[in-house]
Amino acid sequence: MKATAVAPANIAFTKYWGKVDDELRLPANPSFSMNLDNCLTTTTVEFDKKYKEDSFEMIGEKVQEKEERRALKHIDHMRQKVHIPLRAKIVTKNSFPKSAGIASSASGFAALAVAASNAASLHLSEKELSVFARVGSGSACRSIPDGFVEWKEGKTSQESYAHSLFPPDYWDLRDILVIVRSKNKKTPTSEGMELGRETSIFYTPRIQAVRQLHETLKTAFVKKDFKTVGEIIEKDCIYMHCVMMSTIPHLFYWTPETLAVIQNVIEWRDEAIESYYTIDAGPNVHVICEAKTEEKLISKLKKLDFVEQIIINKPAKGAHLITNHLF
Ligand code: DP6
Repeated sequence: MKATAVAPANIAFTKYWGKVDDELRLPANPSFSMNLDNCLTTTTVEFDKKYKEDSFEMIGEKVQEKEERRALKHIDHMRQKVHIPLRAKIVTKNSFPKSAGIASSASGFAALAVAASNAASLHLSEKELSVFARVGSGSACRSIPDGFVEWKEGKTSQESYAHSLFPPDYWDLRDILVIVRSKNKKTPTSEGMELGRETSIFYTPRIQAVRQLHETLKTAFVKKDFKTVGEIIEKDCIYMHCVMMSTIPHLFYWTPETLAVIQNVIEWRDEAIESYYTIDAGPNVHVICEAKTEEKLISKLKKLDFVEQIIINKPAKGAHLITNHLF
């Protein structure tokens, strides 16, 4: 009763920032994302009678109590469904250092969902896996299917899952992740979203706007219209950060370096280096470009002396099983 899965992190082009059901993590709007081939989590789960209690370990990193509680709650959730009397050992490893400041909850809960359900001999469909991952962390449902993914809102738990719109090789895009500050204290996403819903005057207008942006984005993707795709990516990034910044207490995830990258990306467009920025709940910037622009963009980014690290991501397949276990 042992299985190992690998899952990618994902970057959202239209974003999830607000729930209609906090417990089930039902989102207030649909979102669209790309799986990242260089930001991966590998997780092994084993159920066995030799384990007296559940355990959770992260190779090379110190596990925070909150992280452990959330992972074990996820296992419990599944155990309730299949009535396994056994305890589990969970070992997990990220391909990216925690200091890179990338949220590992999407790749983490997607890998955990696939590994745990297979270790329990539950052969879930992609849709069921996406639902299961979503309950752990909303954005994790988008790390289950391949490539470019849509998460529809759904009115019930079973209706709220992600599916692939385009395979990874549909469009050779890059997500150049620019790490500007690796150690930053920040408000956790779940808490930030709830506060935003309660206090930001921009919360509801953004939800309405993003629904429209999401539909236009899908059409632009069909046409491979990079300019329109890029403009939408930036729009929803700014809309979401307006919600964050107008939340009480204010959520400023940006640092001066974040804004400097944004300004450079805009200026470089005048030099025919076409790329677009997006930022999640942290200071680091994802710069999206087509493969043909990668080299020029990287050489520009490397000249910015405040950049700590650059991670180049191509579109990736979704969560899947592998045969090499971590223990
Ligand atoms: C800013 O999936 O981390 O990255 O469901 O509360 O665990 P929870 O939230 P989470 O939120 C991700 C928010 C985001 C935008 C996005 O990825 O869509």
